[in-house]
Amino acid sequence: MVKNIDLIKNEPPFEKDVRKSILDREFWKFDNYNGPKENFYQIWTKEYISALANYISARYDKSDIILEVCAGEGLLTLYLNQILPHRIIATDSHKWIKKFTFPPFVKKYSTEEAVTHFSPKLVLVSWLPLNLDLTPLFRSCGSVHEYIVIGEAKGGCTGNEQVFESHEGFYQEDILKEIGHYCKSDYILQYSSFEDIRWHSKTTAFRRIK
Ligand SMILES: C[S@@+](CC[C@H](N)C(=O)[O-])C[C@H]1O[C@@H](n2cnc3c(N)ncnc32)[C@H](O)[C@@H]1O
Repeated sequence: MVKNIDLIKNEPPFEKDVRKSILDREFWKFDNYNGPKENFYQIWTKEYISALANYISARYDKSDIILEVCAGEGLLTLYLNQILPHRIIATDSHKWIKKFTFPPFVKKYSTEEAVTHFSPKLVLVSWLPLNLDLTPLFRSCGSVHEYIVIGEAKGGCTGNEQVFESHEGFYQEDILKEIGHYCKSDYILQYSSFEDIRWHSKTTAFRRIK
């Protein structure tokens, strides 16, 4: 059972406020809890966190191991863990130590180490580093039933083109399509309407076909 989004602390914004800030070109308004700087990628909204939590809750038991890799400052896990009964584990290699301040709950594991160590059933990754495809590690890990890639999809700056190709043994689906997706580059691109903004980044699920 997912708790009400009003219980999320460190306050992700409502979607309507993000849209307004983008159109008003208030570039860094929705930064993270470590203070204003430029190191966020996806902009988590209350609506998005709630929708992803519902997606997870409908498919995974509380005891299933859910892992976030390349978690950066860990906001996605921080928010999800506040409304899900599941315990998501946030990890990052800490490679981008000059850019990010990694909170203690973001455990230092490379993606390879993390999938081997935790044997997750579900893997979450937001904004894979540019030109790096870590998804073969998920597909080759037998415990992984599904992985979810969040960020700019094909043609964008999330991983590389191979990430979004079709992969044998996995069914690919854009999910949470009814929820707006907002990211850093929405501020950079010249949008003129709310509708243009909403769909620039995506949430793509890859589910193992049994
Ligand atoms: C573009 S940032 C995304 C951070 C966060 N997920 C977000 O959406 O804001 C990429 C992150 O991947 C981490 N990283 C780079 N290579 C990695 C690897 N091989 N395994 C795990 N993390 C890695 C970096 O330290 C950095 O925090």
